[in-house]
Amino acid sequence: MITKLHILALPLLFSAALPLASAQSKAGGEAQYERGEKLFTTYCARCHGKHADGEGRMVKRLYRKLKTQLPSNFTLGIYADRPAEYLRKIITYGGENNAMSKYMPPFGEELSDENIDDLVHLIKKIPEKHIRTINP
Ligand code: HEC
Repeated sequence: MITKLHILALPLLFSAALPLASAQSKAGGEAQYERGEKLFTTYCARCHGKHADGEGRMVKRLYRKLKTQLPSNFTLGIYADRPAEYLRKIITYGGENNAMSKYMPPFGEELSDENIDDLVHLIKKIPEKHIRTINP
């Protein structure tokens, strides 16, 4: 019982600097990460890649032909430090409304705010997970 409590308390400790985020994800970061993964596979992987490395199947089909901006590679370390607000804005309103590629579609109609928060959480965590699994 004591160990179980410890495990539950850990994610709350790490998110202590972000009181809002920790209040929203009481179930812990892991559950939110998994929800984010499911959404990512359904809505984002065709461009950003099923491993989030920017190598989705649309890339070969469309982007290389059009020689346009490629979908971002979320395994790069930089995404851990991107403000959640910035990521949320791009996912909700799309690239074109944020001075980026028009091939990044807006998802504000299709996805709920909770869905988008799960995706933001995932994107910020992917670099850490990637390093852990690829270079243990
Ligand atoms: C049709 C292809 C496509 C789909 C589907 C798509 N994206 Fe993108 N996305 C792009 C492209 C292309 C860019 C690069 C925009 C640029 O750099 O100008 C991008 C950029 C982004 C960025 C900006 C990151 C940065 O480099 O600063 C975020 C965040 C993002 N996408 C999240 C998502 C999420 C989350 C989903 C799924 C809900 C998704 N995208 C689905 C094509 C796509």
